[in-house]
Amino acid sequence: MPRIRIEGGHKLSGTIPISGAKNSVVALIPAAILCDETATISNVPDITDVDDLENILIHLNAKINRTTGKVEINSSDIINKEITSELSKKLRASYYFMGALLGKFKKVDMYFPGGCSIGERPINLHLKGFEALGARITEEDNHFIIEADSLKGNNIYLDFRSVGATINIMLAAVKATGKTVIDNAAAEPEIVNVATFLNNMGAKIKGAGTSTITITGVKHLHSCFHEVIPDRIEAGTYLILASLIGENLKIDNIIPNHLEALIAKLTESGVDMEIGIDNILVKEPKNYKSINIKTLVYPGFATDFQQIMATYMTQCKGSSTIEETIFENRFQNLYELEKMGAIIKVRKDNKKATIKGKTKLVGTEVVSTDLRGGASLVIAGLIAEGVTTISNISYILRGYDKIIEKLTNVGAKIEII
Ligand code: UD1
Repeated sequence: MPRIRIEGGHKLSGTIPISGAKNSVVALIPAAILCDETATISNVPDITDVDDLENILIHLNAKINRTTGKVEINSSDIINKEITSELSKKLRASYYFMGALLGKFKKVDMYFPGGCSIGERPINLHLKGFEALGARITEEDNHFIIEADSLKGNNIYLDFRSVGATINIMLAAVKATGKTVIDNAAAEPEIVNVATFLNNMGAKIKGAGTSTITITGVKHLHSCFHEVIPDRIEAGTYLILASLIGENLKIDNIIPNHLEALIAKLTESGVDMEIGIDNILVKEPKNYKSINIKTLVYPGFATDFQQIMATYMTQCKGSSTIEETIFENRFQNLYELEKMGAIIKVRKDNKKATIKGKTKLVGTEVVSTDLRGGASLVIAGLIAEGVTTISNISYILRGYDKIIEKLTNVGAKIEII
């Protein structure tokens, strides 16, 4: 099995360009099948999650033309058949085919999605939304049949501001008759990106990016051209790296506003950064103070960053804490960081961790436990003394476009072996 090998301790300089957002494109591709003509998506990252979604589209007989950074999807001849367990469990975002196929055909037949095992991750809120629109759901052994005679707009209140449920309900409601109102909707930038895509095709969605989204159903969705927003999680990952080991390291092609909570926390800890219109430059690492973070829905501190911040915290003086409020099992990477010398205590309920710094990290063999956990180990390997090898790297390649190339270009000694 391939592994990532890192020779740590090299200072990094230059520019890291940020790719299109994983969590946006993984919703845009399923959303494209709602289009009655050809939908073109640009700034598409080269990640395995996109390959896995493409395989589902091929399975459904959609016509795809994928070139570097661009994908054209024509769903005129799509066949609405079962999405097998093998295809759906490859990634979390396969669940967006539920909303998209239900919206297009009023029927979907597929298995429970896969993705990182960072918690239980039920889809009850998605299903509750589909039911409110008039769908009937049959489930047996993770196999779902969701169907409706017709879909009618309704008022839907989400018990939790779930990203997946908000987007999935939007997809199902876009061609329903009448008006759907999603209350307590999630407000992540990726949701706005998906709503803009659908509106570009002629959908009538208002309020994306706020807690109330209104969707007025339309009959026809026409061709469109749409760009994926920059990946704020990839940007934040490299910003944290720049804070630790950057010397004039610029993170480019980003929307700094999307990183507000992370920037605030890094600044509080002592990171000195120059924020431009679409980039952030870190001139040199400093001595950092400990900080406390608590994960929250957007615009709060993103849960995806906390695992990467754990590596950062090992380099802060004093005790830092992470409180995880979104997922039940997102501390697995901490046990790997301990192998490298980190001093960490995880509270029994698995909701809070304390990290003592500043500690020297030393390269060793570690295992990527999930996507962002894997990224936390890559950062740890880059700042550690000696050689780190990371196994289970398929998680990392699912979400980081050209990670080896981007890091090598700024001076990292990193390779896949
Ligand atoms: C998405 C992102 C993921 C990110 C997360 C939170 C994608 C593909 N993934 O995941 O990277 O970490 O948002 O920002 O975009 N929940 C329920 N019932 C539901 C749905 C969710 O109880 O029906 C719970 C989940 O178990 C979790 C919380 O709500 O505890 C948040 O989940 P959600 O926002 O839906 O995250 P995902 O869409 O899975």
